Amino acid sequence: MHPTVRKAVFPLAGHGTRFLPMTKSSPKEMLPVIDKPVVQYVVEEAVEAGIEQMVMVTGRGKRAIEDHFDISYELEDVLKKKNKHALLSELQRISNLAQILYLRQKEALGLGHAVLCAELAVGDEPFAVALGDEILDGPKSGLSQLMEAYRKLGSPIIGMQRVPLSEVSHYGIVAGTEIRKGLFRVDRLVEKPRLEDAPSDFAIIGRYILTPDLFEVLRTQPPGVGGEIQLTDALNTLAERRPVYALEIEGDRFDTGDKMGFLKATVRFALKRPDLSLEFFHFLRETLERETQRQSSEGAHAIRPLKG
Ligand code: G1P
Repeated sequence: MHPTVRKAVFPLAGHGTRFLPMTKSSPKEMLPVIDKPVVQYVVEEAVEAGIEQMVMVTGRGKRAIEDHFDISYELEDVLKKKNKHALLSELQRISNLAQILYLRQKEALGLGHAVLCAELAVGDEPFAVALGDEILDGPKSGLSQLMEAYRKLGSPIIGMQRVPLSEVSHYGIVAGTEIRKGLFRVDRLVEKPRLEDAPSDFAIIGRYILTPDLFEVLRTQPPGVGGEIQLTDALNTLAERRPVYALEIEGDRFDTGDKMGFLKATVRFALKRPDLSLEFFHFLRETLERETQRQSSEGAHAIRPLKG
């Protein structure tokens, strides 16, 4: 039996520059997809995968995340007085979701450094890592898929998905040998390669199950791409010492730190909500029809021959 994965690390100190000005005073992980902040989707995914303790690595300007998962007695009191019981129990459910520990990454030195900051809290046991601005939508949660594979393999496993070639330079890219459908033994990992240097189109997504020997590698990991201590580089070193695997994760991934990913997530999750889906579906259909008409009439206008 391999040791159980009980803890998950959430690196949350990033600035969210792709979503400025919104993220100037509000953490990108608190952007709402319908009525829940993005980070809550990720915490719920970890809970679904059986994780009991969440280690949040935050930074300046991230206090709203702590408040969100905390108890708000004043608010609960107001809801009680107004007989809003459903909302009250939803708030209580959120503050009871899991045990949460908050740590600070004082300097933005990279994802590898953020994970290293969690060493004391993780200790000598395997742990999950989940990036707090990526959400997955599929039949089974991303972390659950990784946990299932970890229970069999007992080795570090990285979640990955194929991406369009035009996007490989935005990700950590995996070179590996397929040992069964969707499961690869990692040969090499490259963080944000140029397209011509990318060994495949399999991108690391923000979900990992890792083992504590990684900390030792991280402690001496020199900065890589962008001058940052990269988790990908440390995992590449680890893969030279012991088997490291990568699993193709089923489901759709939304990078909500990116405007397009955020919009897509909002549409997808709104269409899944029984209280919103019907009206929202009709609104989308009408909007698309009107927009198609507008574009085609503009197109016709644009190709009208010039009067001589
Ligand atoms: C990080 C990782 C990268 C991974 C990506 C997934 O990059 O370093 O390997 O592919 O997350 O979103 P970041 O997006 O933080 O630059």
